[in-house]
Amino acid sequence: MMESQQANRKNEHLSLAIASFKQAHTHHYFNQIRLIHNALPEMSTTDVDPRVQLGPHLHLEWPFYLEAMTGGSNQAMKVNRTLAHQAARHHLAIATGSLSIAIREPATRPSFTVVREEDPAGLVFANLSAGTSLQAAQTAIKLLHADALELHLNAAQELTMMEGDRNFHWIDNIKCLVKALPVPIIVKEVGFGMSQQTIRRLLAAGVRYINISGRGGTNFALIENRRSHGLGLPELNKWGQTTPESLLEARVIKDPSPTIIASGGIINPLDVIKAGVLGAQTVGVAGYFLNILIRHGENALDEELCRWQEEILRLLTLLGCQRFTDLSHRVDFVLQGDLYDYARQRKLI
Ligand SMILES: Cc1cc2nc3c(=O)[nH]c(=O)nc-3n(C[C@H](O)[C@H](O)[C@H](O)COP(=O)(O)O)c2cc1C
Repeated sequence: MMESQQANRKNEHLSLAIASFKQAHTHHYFNQIRLIHNALPEMSTTDVDPRVQLGPHLHLEWPFYLEAMTGGSNQAMKVNRTLAHQAARHHLAIATGSLSIAIREPATRPSFTVVREEDPAGLVFANLSAGTSLQAAQTAIKLLHADALELHLNAAQELTMMEGDRNFHWIDNIKCLVKALPVPIIVKEVGFGMSQQTIRRLLAAGVRYINISGRGGTNFALIENRRSHGLGLPELNKWGQTTPESLLEARVIKDPSPTIIASGGIINPLDVIKAGVLGAQTVGVAGYFLNILIRHGENALDEELCRWQEEILRLLTLLGCQRFTDLSHRVDFVLQGDLYDYARQRKLI
Protein backbone atom coordinates (compact mmCIF):
# COMPACT_ATOMS: atom_id res chain seq x y z
CA MET A 1 0.00 0.00 0.00
CA MET A 2 1.22 3.54 -0.84
CA GLU A 3 1.96 5.45 2.34
CA SER A 4 1.03 9.09 2.95
CA GLN A 5 3.47 11.97 3.24
CA GLN A 6 3.06 11.93 7.03
CA ALA A 7 3.78 8.18 7.15
CA ASN A 8 6.94 8.76 5.11
CA ARG A 9 7.97 11.39 7.64
CA LYS A 10 7.59 8.79 10.41
CA ASN A 11 9.91 6.44 8.48
CA GLU A 12 12.42 9.25 7.97
CA HIS A 13 12.38 10.01 11.70
CA LEU A 14 13.22 6.39 12.46
CA SER A 15 16.06 6.20 9.93
CA LEU A 16 17.48 9.66 10.72
CA ALA A 17 17.36 9.05 14.49
CA ILE A 18 19.67 6.10 13.82
CA ALA A 19 21.82 7.84 11.18
CA SER A 20 22.39 10.87 13.44
CA PHE A 21 22.80 8.87 16.66
CA LYS A 22 26.58 9.26 16.89
CA GLN A 23 26.55 12.99 16.08
CA ALA A 24 23.71 13.60 18.55
CA HIS A 25 25.59 11.81 21.34
CA THR A 26 29.01 13.48 20.98
CA HIS A 27 28.72 14.98 24.46
CA HIS A 28 27.50 12.88 27.35
CA TYR A 29 26.25 15.56 29.74
CA PHE A 30 25.64 13.10 32.58
CA ASN A 31 29.45 12.83 32.88
CA GLN A 32 29.36 16.28 34.49
CA ILE A 33 27.62 14.83 37.54
CA ARG A 34 29.71 12.88 40.08
CA LEU A 35 27.97 10.95 42.80
CA ILE A 36 29.52 10.76 46.26
CA HIS A 37 30.43 7.19 47.13
CA ASN A 38 28.79 5.51 50.10
CA ALA A 39 31.23 3.03 51.62
CA LEU A 40 28.62 1.77 54.11
CA PRO A 41 25.52 0.73 52.15
CA GLU A 42 24.07 -1.34 55.08
CA MET A 43 21.75 -3.26 52.77
CA SER A 44 21.69 -6.13 50.28
CA THR A 45 20.49 -6.27 46.68
CA THR A 46 17.41 -8.21 47.74
CA ASP A 47 16.31 -5.21 49.85
CA VAL A 48 15.83 -3.08 46.72
CA ASP A 49 12.28 -2.47 45.56
CA PRO A 50 12.55 -1.09 42.01
CA ARG A 51 8.90 -0.07 41.77
CA VAL A 52 7.96 3.58 41.38
CA GLN A 53 4.65 5.17 42.21
CA LEU A 54 3.97 8.20 40.00
CA GLY A 55 1.18 10.15 41.63
CA PRO A 56 -1.88 8.22 42.76
CA HIS A 57 -2.54 6.34 39.51
CA LEU A 58 0.62 5.15 37.78
CA HIS A 59 2.42 2.17 39.32
CA LEU A 60 5.64 1.43 37.44
CA GLU A 61 7.54 -1.79 38.07
CA TRP A 62 10.86 -0.17 37.10
CA PRO A 63 12.24 3.38 37.23
CA PHE A 64 12.69 3.55 33.44
CA TYR A 65 10.40 3.03 30.47
CA LEU A 66 10.32 3.03 26.67
CA GLU A 67 9.67 6.64 25.67
CA ALA A 68 7.49 7.90 22.78
CA MET A 69 8.81 7.09 19.34
CA THR A 70 6.65 5.91 16.56
CA GLY A 71 3.50 4.72 14.83
CA GLY A 72 1.78 5.53 11.52
CA SER A 73 3.63 3.46 8.90
CA ASN A 74 4.29 -0.20 8.13
CA GLN A 75 7.82 0.08 9.46
CA ALA A 76 6.56 1.86 12.58
CA MET A 77 4.12 -0.98 13.18
CA LYS A 78 6.97 -3.52 13.21
CA VAL A 79 8.99 -1.35 15.59
CA ASN A 80 6.01 -0.80 17.89
CA ARG A 81 5.20 -4.52 17.96
CA THR A 82 8.73 -5.40 19.04
CA LEU A 83 9.05 -2.57 21.57
CA ALA A 84 5.71 -3.49 23.13
CA HIS A 85 6.67 -7.16 23.24
CA GLN A 86 9.85 -6.24 25.11
CA ALA A 87 7.98 -3.82 27.39
CA ALA A 88 5.58 -6.61 28.38
CA ARG A 89 8.40 -9.11 28.86
CA HIS A 90 10.38 -6.77 31.12
CA HIS A 91 7.39 -5.14 32.88
CA LEU A 92 8.30 -1.71 31.56
CA ALA A 93 5.85 1.05 30.75
CA ILE A 94 5.80 2.17 27.11
CA ALA A 95 4.69 5.32 25.27
CA THR A 96 3.70 5.34 21.60
CA GLY A 97 4.66 8.05 19.14
CA SER A 98 2.23 10.87 18.37
CA LEU A 99 -1.21 9.59 17.38
CA SER A 100 -2.01 12.67 15.27
CA ILE A 101 -1.55 10.53 12.14
CA ALA A 102 -3.96 7.94 13.57
CA ILE A 103 -6.58 10.67 14.06
CA ARG A 104 -6.12 12.01 10.52
CA GLU A 105 -5.63 8.65 8.76
CA PRO A 106 -7.65 5.92 10.53
CA ALA A 107 -6.03 3.24 8.33
CA THR A 108 -2.81 3.74 10.32
CA ARG A 109 -4.41 2.92 13.69
CA PRO A 110 -3.24 -0.72 13.83
CA SER A 111 0.36 0.53 13.95
CA PHE A 112 -0.51 2.02 17.36
CA THR A 113 -3.06 -0.45 18.72
CA VAL A 114 -0.48 -3.21 18.21
CA VAL A 115 1.17 -1.83 21.35
CA ARG A 116 -1.87 -2.60 23.49
CA GLU A 117 -2.30 -6.00 21.79
CA GLU A 118 1.28 -7.00 22.61
CA ASP A 119 1.12 -5.55 26.12
CA PRO A 120 -2.46 -6.03 27.31
CA ALA A 121 -1.75 -5.65 31.03
CA GLY A 122 1.10 -3.13 30.99
CA LEU A 123 1.21 0.63 31.37
CA VAL A 124 0.75 2.30 27.98
CA PHE A 125 0.97 6.05 27.42
CA ALA A 126 -0.61 7.70 24.36
CA ASN A 127 1.03 10.77 22.83
CA LEU A 128 -0.29 13.85 21.02
CA SER A 129 0.67 17.48 20.47
CA ALA A 130 -0.17 19.95 23.25
CA GLY A 131 -2.35 21.69 20.65
CA THR A 132 -4.61 18.68 20.16
CA SER A 133 -8.40 18.87 20.38
CA LEU A 134 -10.23 17.29 23.31
CA GLN A 135 -11.98 14.92 20.93
CA ALA A 136 -8.71 13.69 19.40
CA ALA A 137 -7.27 13.17 22.88
CA GLN A 138 -10.31 11.12 23.90
CA THR A 139 -10.03 9.01 20.73
CA ALA A 140 -6.32 8.37 21.32
CA ILE A 141 -6.90 7.30 24.92
CA LYS A 142 -9.73 5.01 23.90
CA LEU A 143 -7.80 3.42 21.03
CA LEU A 144 -4.95 2.37 23.31
CA HIS A 145 -6.87 1.97 26.57
CA ALA A 146 -4.11 4.36 27.60
CA ASP A 147 -3.11 4.71 31.25
CA ALA A 148 -1.84 8.26 30.66
CA LEU A 149 -1.62 10.79 27.85
CA GLU A 150 1.63 12.53 26.96
CA LEU A 151 1.26 15.98 25.39
CA HIS A 152 4.39 17.02 23.56
CA LEU A 153 5.86 20.53 23.31
CA ASN A 154 7.93 20.60 20.13
CA ALA A 155 8.15 24.23 18.97
CA ALA A 156 11.87 23.98 18.15
CA GLN A 157 11.24 20.89 16.02
CA GLU A 158 8.26 22.38 14.14
CA LEU A 159 10.12 25.62 13.41
CA THR A 160 13.05 23.67 11.99
CA MET A 161 10.72 21.77 9.63
CA MET A 162 9.82 23.42 6.33
CA GLU A 163 6.31 21.98 6.56
CA GLY A 164 6.07 22.47 10.36
CA ASP A 165 3.54 24.46 12.41
CA ARG A 166 4.12 28.14 12.98
CA ASN A 167 1.51 28.83 15.72
CA PHE A 168 2.14 27.78 19.29
CA HIS A 169 -0.69 28.76 21.64
CA TRP A 170 -0.71 25.80 23.96
CA ILE A 171 -1.09 26.71 27.60
CA ASP A 172 -4.87 27.35 27.67
CA ASN A 173 -5.48 24.16 25.72
CA ILE A 174 -3.32 22.18 28.15
CA LYS A 175 -5.32 23.62 31.04
CA CYS A 176 -8.61 22.46 29.45
CA LEU A 177 -7.25 18.99 28.62
CA VAL A 178 -5.95 18.42 32.16
CA LYS A 179 -9.39 19.28 33.55
CA ALA A 180 -11.41 17.28 31.05
CA LEU A 181 -9.50 14.04 30.55
CA PRO A 182 -9.88 10.98 32.78
CA VAL A 183 -6.21 9.90 32.78
CA PRO A 184 -3.01 11.57 34.07
CA ILE A 185 -1.53 14.09 31.62
CA ILE A 186 2.25 14.15 31.21
CA VAL A 187 3.52 17.25 29.42
CA LYS A 188 6.82 16.54 27.70
CA GLU A 189 9.46 18.20 25.57
CA VAL A 190 11.05 16.22 22.75
CA GLY A 191 14.75 16.81 23.49
CA PHE A 192 15.19 20.58 24.04
CA GLY A 193 14.65 20.62 27.81
CA MET A 194 12.68 22.95 30.07
CA SER A 195 13.41 25.97 32.24
CA GLN A 196 12.17 26.62 35.75
CA GLN A 197 9.81 29.24 34.29
CA THR A 198 8.21 26.77 31.83
CA ILE A 199 7.72 24.23 34.61
CA ARG A 200 6.09 26.84 36.86
CA ARG A 201 3.69 27.83 34.06
CA LEU A 202 2.74 24.20 33.50
CA LEU A 203 2.12 23.76 37.23
CA ALA A 204 -0.08 26.86 37.26
CA ALA A 205 -2.07 25.31 34.39
CA GLY A 206 -2.81 22.27 36.56
CA VAL A 207 -0.17 19.92 35.11
CA ARG A 208 1.31 17.55 37.69
CA TYR A 209 3.50 15.26 35.54
CA ILE A 210 6.31 16.89 33.57
CA ASN A 211 8.90 15.19 31.37
CA ILE A 212 11.65 17.76 30.88
CA SER A 213 13.12 15.78 27.93
CA GLY A 214 16.40 17.61 27.52
CA ARG A 215 19.23 17.95 25.02
CA GLY A 216 22.00 15.37 24.85
CA GLY A 217 20.28 12.49 23.07
CA THR A 218 17.97 12.33 20.06
CA ASN A 219 18.19 15.76 18.44
CA PHE A 220 15.17 16.79 16.41
CA ALA A 221 16.89 19.92 15.13
CA LEU A 222 19.57 17.72 13.53
CA ILE A 223 16.94 15.29 12.24
CA GLU A 224 14.69 17.96 10.71
CA ASN A 225 17.65 19.88 9.31
CA ARG A 226 18.78 16.73 7.52
CA ARG A 227 15.24 16.21 6.20
CA SER A 228 15.00 19.77 4.89
CA HIS A 229 18.28 19.72 2.91
CA GLY A 230 19.58 23.14 3.94
CA LEU A 231 16.21 24.90 4.23
CA GLY A 232 15.73 24.24 7.96
CA LEU A 233 17.28 26.15 10.88
CA PRO A 234 20.83 24.80 11.38
CA GLU A 235 21.33 27.36 14.21
CA LEU A 236 19.13 25.14 16.38
CA ASN A 237 21.39 22.08 16.23
CA LYS A 238 22.69 22.87 19.73
CA TRP A 239 19.56 24.51 21.09
CA GLY A 240 17.98 24.03 24.49
CA GLN A 241 18.82 22.89 28.01
CA THR A 242 20.51 19.55 28.53
CA THR A 243 18.75 16.91 30.60
CA PRO A 244 20.92 17.50 33.72
CA GLU A 245 20.43 21.29 33.35
CA SER A 246 16.66 20.83 33.07
CA LEU A 247 16.60 18.58 36.13
CA LEU A 248 18.48 21.22 38.12
CA GLU A 249 15.92 23.80 36.95
CA ALA A 250 13.06 21.54 38.13
CA ARG A 251 14.69 20.67 41.42
CA VAL A 252 14.33 24.13 42.96
CA ILE A 253 10.53 24.16 42.56
CA LYS A 254 8.67 23.31 45.76
CA ASP A 255 5.07 23.62 47.00
CA PRO A 256 3.71 22.13 44.93
CA SER A 257 6.62 20.20 43.49
CA PRO A 258 5.81 18.52 40.18
CA THR A 259 6.33 14.83 39.44
CA ILE A 260 9.40 15.03 37.25
CA ILE A 261 10.28 12.54 34.54
CA ALA A 262 13.69 12.72 32.83
CA SER A 263 14.50 11.82 29.26
CA GLY A 264 17.03 12.88 26.64
CA GLY A 265 20.41 11.22 26.25
CA ILE A 266 19.98 8.51 28.84
CA ILE A 267 22.20 5.71 27.58
CA ASN A 268 23.16 3.60 30.60
CA PRO A 269 21.85 2.51 34.01
CA LEU A 270 24.12 4.97 35.85
CA ASP A 271 22.41 7.83 33.95
CA VAL A 272 19.06 6.54 35.25
CA ILE A 273 20.47 6.67 38.79
CA LYS A 274 21.99 10.15 38.31
CA ALA A 275 18.65 11.44 36.99
CA GLY A 276 17.05 10.06 40.16
CA VAL A 277 19.64 11.84 42.32
CA LEU A 278 18.75 15.12 40.56
CA GLY A 279 15.07 14.55 41.36
CA ALA A 280 13.57 12.55 38.49
CA GLN A 281 10.94 10.10 39.70
CA THR A 282 11.30 7.97 36.61
CA VAL A 283 13.22 8.02 33.33
CA GLY A 284 12.20 7.66 29.67
CA VAL A 285 14.58 6.20 27.10
CA ALA A 286 13.94 6.44 23.36
CA GLY A 287 16.86 6.73 20.92
CA TYR A 288 19.31 4.44 22.70
CA PHE A 289 16.96 1.45 22.75
CA LEU A 290 15.76 2.15 19.20
CA ASN A 291 19.36 2.18 18.03
CA ILE A 292 20.01 -1.23 19.60
CA LEU A 293 16.84 -2.67 18.13
CA ILE A 294 17.44 -1.41 14.59
CA ARG A 295 21.18 -2.09 14.47
CA HIS A 296 21.39 -5.31 16.47
CA GLY A 297 17.89 -6.83 16.61
CA GLU A 298 15.36 -7.83 19.24
CA ASN A 299 17.56 -10.32 21.12
CA ALA A 300 20.17 -7.62 21.71
CA LEU A 301 17.48 -5.29 23.06
CA ASP A 302 16.17 -8.07 25.29
CA GLU A 303 19.65 -8.63 26.74
CA GLU A 304 20.21 -4.90 27.20
CA LEU A 305 16.96 -4.48 29.11
CA CYS A 306 17.94 -7.39 31.40
CA ARG A 307 21.32 -5.77 31.99
CA TRP A 308 19.79 -2.38 32.85
CA GLN A 309 17.36 -3.92 35.33
CA GLU A 310 20.04 -5.96 37.04
CA GLU A 311 22.55 -3.07 37.19
CA ILE A 312 19.96 -0.68 38.59
CA LEU A 313 19.43 -3.05 41.52
CA ARG A 314 23.16 -3.18 42.15
CA LEU A 315 23.70 0.59 41.87
CA LEU A 316 20.81 1.34 44.23
CA THR A 317 22.37 -1.09 46.73
CA LEU A 318 25.77 0.60 46.43
CA LEU A 319 24.15 3.93 47.20
CA GLY A 320 22.22 2.52 50.16
CA CYS A 321 18.80 3.22 48.61
CA GLN A 322 15.98 0.70 48.82
CA ARG A 323 13.81 2.73 46.48
CA PHE A 324 14.54 4.86 43.43
CA THR A 325 12.94 7.92 44.99
CA ASP A 326 15.36 7.68 47.97
CA LEU A 327 18.15 8.78 45.63
CA SER A 328 17.17 12.46 45.58
CA HIS A 329 17.44 12.92 49.34
CA ARG A 330 20.13 10.38 50.26
CA VAL A 331 22.84 10.80 47.65
CA ASP A 332 25.17 13.79 47.44
CA PHE A 333 26.72 14.93 44.18
CA VAL A 334 29.13 17.43 42.73
CA LEU A 335 28.79 19.16 39.38
CA GLN A 336 31.66 19.71 36.98
CA GLY A 337 32.54 21.96 34.04
CA ASP A 338 29.74 23.61 32.06
CA LEU A 339 27.04 22.10 34.25
CA TYR A 340 28.54 23.73 37.35
CA ASP A 341 28.78 27.10 35.54
CA TYR A 342 25.19 26.79 34.37
CA ALA A 343 23.92 25.96 37.85
CA ARG A 344 25.82 28.91 39.39
CA GLN A 345 24.63 31.47 36.81
CA ARG A 346 21.04 30.24 37.06
CA LYS A 347 21.30 30.25 40.90
CA LEU A 348 20.24 26.62 41.07
CA ILE A 349 22.82 25.56 43.66
C1 LIG B 1 12.25 8.12 16.14
C2 LIG B 1 11.73 9.00 17.23
C3 LIG B 1 10.44 9.51 17.14
C4 LIG B 1 9.92 10.31 18.16
N1 LIG B 1 8.62 10.72 18.10
C5 LIG B 1 8.08 11.36 19.16
C6 LIG B 1 6.69 11.67 19.19
O1 LIG B 1 5.93 11.32 18.28
N2 LIG B 1 6.19 12.34 20.28
C7 LIG B 1 7.01 12.70 21.32
O2 LIG B 1 6.53 13.27 22.30
N3 LIG B 1 8.33 12.44 21.29
C8 LIG B 1 8.87 11.77 20.27
N4 LIG B 1 10.20 11.45 20.28
C9 LIG B 1 11.07 12.05 21.35
C10 LIG B 1 11.32 11.11 22.51
O3 LIG B 1 10.13 10.72 23.13
C11 LIG B 1 12.27 11.77 23.54
O4 LIG B 1 11.63 12.87 24.13
C12 LIG B 1 13.58 12.24 22.89
O5 LIG B 1 13.94 11.37 21.86
C13 LIG B 1 14.73 12.31 23.88
O6 LIG B 1 15.03 11.03 24.42
P1 LIG B 1 16.23 10.08 23.88
O7 LIG B 1 17.47 10.90 23.86
O8 LIG B 1 16.26 8.93 24.82
O9 LIG B 1 15.86 9.65 22.49
C14 LIG B 1 10.74 10.64 19.29
C15 LIG B 1 12.03 10.10 19.38
C16 LIG B 1 12.53 9.29 18.38
C17 LIG B 1 13.90 8.70 18.53
